[in-house]
Amino acid sequence: MTGSGPSTPRDGAYGGLERVPTGIAGLDAILGGGLFRGGVYIVQGTPGAGKTILGNQACYTHAGAHPENRALYVTLLAESHARMLGHIAPLGFFDAGLIPDRITYLSAFRSLQDEGLTGLLTLLRRETGARDASLVVLDGLVAAEETARSALEFKTFIHELQTQAAATGATVLLLTSASAGAAMVAAEHTMVDGLIELSSRLSGRRAERDLEVRKFRGSGFLRGRHAFRITDDGVVVYPRTEARLRVPSRRDHVDGPKVTTGSPALDAMLGGGLPSHSTTMLAGPAGIGKTTLGLQFLGADPDEPGLMYGFYESEAALRVKARALALPIAGMMEAGQVAVLWQPATEGLIDEVCADLLDTIRNRRVRRVFLDGLDAMRRLAEDQDRIVRIFAALTAELRALGVTGMYTTETDLHGLASDLPMSGTALRGASSIAENIVLLRFVELRSSLHRVISVIKARDSRIDPRLRGFDIREGGLAIEDGPERAEAILAELRHARRGRE
Ligand SMILES: Nc1ncnc2c1ncn2[C@@H]1O[C@H](COP(=O)(O)OP(=O)(O)OP(=O)(O)O)[C@@H](O)[C@H]1O
Ligand SMILES: [Mg+2]
Repeated sequence: MTGSGPSTPRDGAYGGLERVPTGIAGLDAILGGGLFRGGVYIVQGTPGAGKTILGNQACYTHAGAHPENRALYVTLLAESHARMLGHIAPLGFFDAGLIPDRITYLSAFRSLQDEGLTGLLTLLRRETGARDASLVVLDGLVAAEETARSALEFKTFIHELQTQAAATGATVLLLTSASAGAAMVAAEHTMVDGLIELSSRLSGRRAERDLEVRKFRGSGFLRGRHAFRITDDGVVVYPRTEARLRVPSRRDHVDGPKVTTGSPALDAMLGGGLPSHSTTMLAGPAGIGKTTLGLQFLGADPDEPGLMYGFYESEAALRVKARALALPIAGMMEAGQVAVLWQPATEGLIDEVCADLLDTIRNRRVRRVFLDGLDAMRRLAEDQDRIVRIFAALTAELRALGVTGMYTTETDLHGLASDLPMSGTALRGASSIAENIVLLRFVELRSSLHRVISVIKARDSRIDPRLRGFDIREGGLAIEDGPERAEAILAELRHARRGRE
């Protein structure tokens, strides 16, 4: 354990300090389990950043978690409680039954006006004791700061608050607004046990909310800016995927039987199937059959629960496609053996996509994942350097969870015409993302368009890198057993080209 808390001893100092979850799962994950009992924390953010919602949410989840938990919500603002509750009541975490016994709302506006910070401290001490509160939220710290006659008086107030918190064991959240971009380190920031900052910024025309833990005494935490949303359920935080998955949740198990792709011919090209718990990139131009091959892969083993994560086609569209091609997955979709998650490519946060993906995999014990649209996912990540790191982390986590994955990425239409084994920038950095790469291409010969498929690499496998022709018909991709027809097409293509030169 690193860092140090206030000098007052607290419970269980040797067994580690007791955690008080904020009830916001993503934030608790960032903090390594929650706040510490008896600690004082500042939640700072611009107006409308979500401080009041976060503070209330912490109270409701805390009070609802255990019959002995009590929360005290103290406001220093002129804003009436009725008005604030009017804003909070529609949110999912709200529970009127907890008021007033387990959650008490209190206005300290008057005390502060009449008796200053001393009056406020007295009120907090009395009420925390009287209600036996284990969580105290003080909303509008800035009003207390304005009341202070000097910087010293305010620092003394914070110090007294810490002493009280340590003595009662109540965890204290101080909510305060700060002028955006204030670079000055406020004295109270150095004093408290932790500082959480909520902010909002524009990404193109979209406004994105960010949460950053700037300081957290007593344990490590996930550093950096994490995306969050305010939804009808309150604050939802998405820890940065690459930070959250820095270490896979379990040990890898890379050995195991090969996994069928759903196409015996492709299995043979791969040297007997996909290495177990590996990830495969399907690269090819629009319309070549990537989604079809992915659906074939998901439906290849009825005993393995599957998950399709798509950006382009809705579940209804996929069902139609699966039925039209008589893919085995059609029945599995009807039976609910394959989950379909769909995220329009225009909205959404990349960390939200990753969190949804991993939650569904864990909850449904998914063994096969097909992610259709790596490019759409890449567009969701505003910071393009992140995508390779995110995918490397995701790949490692899927392997640890025993999942075999397949992703698609779009290449341009002229994959073969340039005589290069592959062209298009879509594959850059692909090696760190995918352990296996399968390339699908169109070959244009006179008036016909032929489809060919090849395996570029497969982890620890003896692949057959020769091209195969294929068609799409009932059952999915019908891949030829041998390379003869593909070779004949290529020979003819070269011949035709030489004739032109
Ligand atoms: N159901 C909801 N869905 C999405 N956003 C919501 C919802 N309810 C409230 N919001 C947003 O939450 C924000 C208000 O949050 P909150 O009142 O917690 O902010 P605050 O930081 O306390 O602001 P202030 O500085 O004014 O006290 C607003 O931006 C509002 O648009
Ligand atoms: Mg507020």
